[in-house]
Amino acid sequence: MSTETPSPSVRTVSADLNAQANAAPVGIFDSGLGGLSVLRAVRAQLPDEALLYVADSLYAPYGERDDDFIADRTLAIGEWLVKQGAKALVVACNTATAQSIALVREKLSIPLIGVEPGIKPAALQSKTRVAGVLATQVTLRSARFQALLDRYAADCRFLCQPGHGLVQAVERCDVGSAELRALLRSYLEPMLDAGADTLVLGCTHYPFFDATIRDLVGDRLTLIDTSVAIARQLERVLDQHGLRAATGIPAALPRFYSTDDGQHQKQLAATLLHLDAEVTQVVIPSRRTAAPDSQAA
Ligand code: DGL
Repeated sequence: MSTETPSPSVRTVSADLNAQANAAPVGIFDSGLGGLSVLRAVRAQLPDEALLYVADSLYAPYGERDDDFIADRTLAIGEWLVKQGAKALVVACNTATAQSIALVREKLSIPLIGVEPGIKPAALQSKTRVAGVLATQVTLRSARFQALLDRYAADCRFLCQPGHGLVQAVERCDVGSAELRALLRSYLEPMLDAGADTLVLGCTHYPFFDATIRDLVGDRLTLIDTSVAIARQLERVLDQHGLRAATGIPAALPRFYSTDDGQHQKQLAATLLHLDAEVTQVVIPSRRTAAPDSQAA
């Protein structure tokens, strides 16, 4: 192996390549609009990073899809983001992470960051030792979620409630209607009756209900939202791989993509994130959505 010091021109070329790699965007993906809660935390934590966001809203909710469908879409969107030049991928969807992160990690060449319900922080902070978990059916029945409970829930009782209807509400930009409040109340009251003092928001769509939940339960439940922890994990992973964008040059607005017409994404980004950004509609083919009846798959 040569121990010669590279010439100045070689050093310049490799510094340029590094700068190019570091200026590349981070891809963030969710079945729909929920990952915007993660994007919000990432922008606050890493303002210099360029971001590409993909909502697979045409096929949301994933929580009612079969495992193979979720893995197929997650992989197709991950590959699409790599083609767009993403240097890392945040799978900002508990359901997709639970179902397919291991497979996607094997297939993609860029670092991946997944998300999971905050069982550990809930177990650490609950005083009554009873905590509620709202998540999709797929997340709750996954082996990854069961492993989280086995690991951290030994002396704490977790009341797991599938949040049927909640993802659909966010997808139509409903975060506080009377119907939604009634649905949330039906999920939260049994938890309160059973003595819960903590609520894990185990789906990235649910932090958008924060104000409504507070209005319903006051301070009787401490909400556990892991978006800030995810942003910190992304920061650590970018550091480990030497991929952080240069500091001091705030990134342009995130680029938003949707597999549906993107109107609701635009509306939610404007009202909840105060971002006035265009959303580009994209077709991201995958094995399971190639068939003409794929929307019913
Ligand atoms: N945001 C996704 C999650 O965190 C929602 C999944 C779905 O589309 O049902 O699980």
